[in-house]
Amino acid sequence: MDPQRLLVSDLDGTLLGDEVALERFRDWFAGQRQSWRLVFATGRTVESVMAIVAAGDLPAPDAIVSNVGADIHDPVGGPWPGWPTSTDGWDLELVRTCLAQFAGIVPQPAGSQTARKASYHATDLSDASLNDIRTALERTGLRVTLVYSSARDLDVLPGDAGKAAAARFLADSWGLPAQHVIAAGDSGNDAELLTAGFRGVIVANAQPELDSLAGPTICRSAYSQAAGVLDGIR
Ligand code: GLC
Ligand code: MG
Repeated sequence: MDPQRLLVSDLDGTLLGDEVALERFRDWFAGQRQSWRLVFATGRTVESVMAIVAAGDLPAPDAIVSNVGADIHDPVGGPWPGWPTSTDGWDLELVRTCLAQFAGIVPQPAGSQTARKASYHATDLSDASLNDIRTALERTGLRVTLVYSSARDLDVLPGDAGKAAAARFLADSWGLPAQHVIAAGDSGNDAELLTAGFRGVIVANAQPELDSLAGPTICRSAYSQAAGVLDGIR
């Protein structure tokens, strides 16, 4: 029988950050392959995730959700069947022109930009500023997913992309109901994922931007990083 449970975990600040706890996670997961599927959902590129797996630091996942949920790949870096890869209905130049009108929003380096993800640094944006940005983007007519993390990183993705949408897509494709899915995270780019109807685990070292997330399906662990993920699963 296929595994009936799915863990969708963020990497930086969630599974990564505490090597001793990560080793415990690897040991636990090694005995769970019959029961659990594993997906990493991260702002990193797929190449960067594959390098960490190849180094033996992370177990091999069933799928990799990269670039803040713009892309899904199989464990060897191939595109995941059925998940959009195109830029149809998406206009990166329009996004860039739109955001250029805002002061203090600085494009991230070229290596952090992809065809389906425009990324910026913008320190301590208020909710009002974020709303202004969202409104300006809506006025372009584009459907976008706007993600703000760590009071610093601003990502603009196509409207149907994002960690939550990607996790839903994978859970559906494996026929897994939401209550069989645990999502784990630590920052703003995990907020949608943690409130998507899955069981959410927020690790103790989470950013203050997740403080307001609460509810019967959310577990706040008293432990940090991979120890918090294991605690939430337990
Ligand atoms: C990763 C990406 C960056 C993104 C951030 C938050 O650090 O490299 O582009 O803004 O995650 O989602
Ligand atoms: Mg993180």
